[in-house]
Amino acid sequence: MRIYRAKDYNDMSRKAANIISAQIIMKPDCVLGLATGSTPIGAYRQLVEWYNKGDLDFSEVTTVNLDEYKGLPKENEQSYYYFMNENLFSKVNIDKSRTYLPDGMIEDSDEACRRYNEIIHSVGGVDLQLLGLGHNGHIGFNEPGIAFETETHCVSLSERTIKANMRFFVSERHVPRQAYTMGIKTIMSAHKILVVISGEDKADAVQQAFFGPVTPQVPGSILQLHNDVTIVADEAALSKCPL
Ligand code: GLP
Repeated sequence: MRIYRAKDYNDMSRKAANIISAQIIMKPDCVLGLATGSTPIGAYRQLVEWYNKGDLDFSEVTTVNLDEYKGLPKENEQSYYYFMNENLFSKVNIDKSRTYLPDGMIEDSDEACRRYNEIIHSVGGVDLQLLGLGHNGHIGFNEPGIAFETETHCVSLSERTIKANMRFFVSERHVPRQAYTMGIKTIMSAHKILVVISGEDKADAVQQAFFGPVTPQVPGSILQLHNDVTIVADEAALSKCPL
């Protein structure tokens, strides 16, 4: 596990974008596993800037996103589909037909997850998986207690996650209670993993995930067992780590 200490959010974003762009340059037809949440927005912004300068080409890139809320249509501003379009896909020359997210509008959870697993297998696996970290150590929407060997599945969000994500919705009651997410097994099968973390409110989660025991109670802790993980975190997020 490599840990890069960034000065602040902007520095973290630039360092993370550098790693993602290196992946695209080294393998133009790579498969990127992408994440939503507020943390990766700065990295996406930086990638768009480099694309606009002519330094990056997304034309052969395929993407598979980590998760999607169940029941939110694509045009809902809080859907992760909408988020990805706003922050990246509509701003670069990516072929939209090769950008995948779980379909939150499929009511039958088994069917939705089966289809997404099929897509992930059909693209041949993920070269670089980008991740954020939830306050309770969740990755994707894999909440504490989740079995490590799961693929895409439907989850009920924890109260803490609902509260954390409430800031994006009109009120708490508008936050969907369920989501489809790649499972830990899928995440762990990516060749490389890049985790971005910012802010003091994440310091406990960082300490528990990367310096504590590997346990399903802290889903991100499983990353300690992956052989190519890079963590880019700012000083505030690393403030409780023994470094
Ligand atoms: C959300 C997402 C995760 C994200 C995490 C942290 O619930 N499902 O993929 O990494 O929570 O989000 P943020 O970066 O906004 O703190």
